[in-house]
Amino acid sequence: MNWTGVIAIDGPAGAGKSTVAKLVASKLGISYLDTGALYRALAYYLDSLSIPAQESPELRKALFDVTVEIRASSVFLNGTDVSSLIRTPAVDRIASLYSALPSVREKLLMLQRDQALKGGLVADGRDMGTVVFPYAPVKVFLTAQAEVRAQRRYDELASRGVKVDYRKLLDEILQRDEADAKRSIAPLKQAPGAVLLDSSSMNAEQVADAIADIARAVCHV
Ligand code: DC
Repeated sequence: MNWTGVIAIDGPAGAGKSTVAKLVASKLGISYLDTGALYRALAYYLDSLSIPAQESPELRKALFDVTVEIRASSVFLNGTDVSSLIRTPAVDRIASLYSALPSVREKLLMLQRDQALKGGLVADGRDMGTVVFPYAPVKVFLTAQAEVRAQRRYDELASRGVKVDYRKLLDEILQRDEADAKRSIAPLKQAPGAVLLDSSSMNAEQVADAIADIARAVCHV
C-alpha cells in the first residue's frame, strides 16, 4: 500500500499514542510526528525564561523569537536538541498549562501541517483530527482506563530510572486529562468520524495492526 494521507491519532496521556503511532508509521513506511513533543519543547523554553503560562506581550515576543524544528524524531529549540530534556514529570505538568494558550497553539499550527506535505504521515496529539488535520482520511481516538495509563507511564519512567509515586502519577494524569479536555481552545475530544479504540487490554502491536487495517480499508474504497 502506498499511503500518502494523514493518520490522525488523538487521546489522553498514557493511552499509548506515541508507541502505537511509531509502529503504524513503520508498518506503512511513512513518517511519524509527535506533536506533544512540540508543546513540551515550547513549555520547557517558556518556563526556562520564567514567563508565566498566560497570554502576555512577553510571551508573544518569546514565541516570535524562538525557532522550533523537527529533524528525524528529535525536537530542536533555537538549534539545540531538547528531545530528552522534555521527558520529565515537571515538563508533563507545564506542557499542559502552556498548551492551553492560543499563541502557543498558533505558533505550532503550520509547523505541524507542513510535516504532511512530504507524503504519508502518522501524527499523534490532542487535536489532530479536530483542528490540525480535520480532513485526515483516518482518524483514531485512542484511550485506555486511567489506572492502566498511569501504570504505563510509571513503567516508562522507571525504565529510565525516574522514581515516582504511582498514586501521585494517577492523580496528575486525571488532572491533566481534565485540563486538556476542558480548555476552550482545541480541547481533547473525539473528532467527528474518528474510530474509538480502547487499548486497556490490547498491546501496542495489536492497536497498531488495527489502525493499519483501517488505513488499508480506506485505501481500497
Ligand atoms: O502527548 P504528550 O503527553 O507528550 O503532550 C504533552 C502536553 O501537550 C499535554 O498536556 C497536552 C499538550 N498537547 C496538546 O495540547 N496538543 C497536542 N496536539 C499535543 C499535546
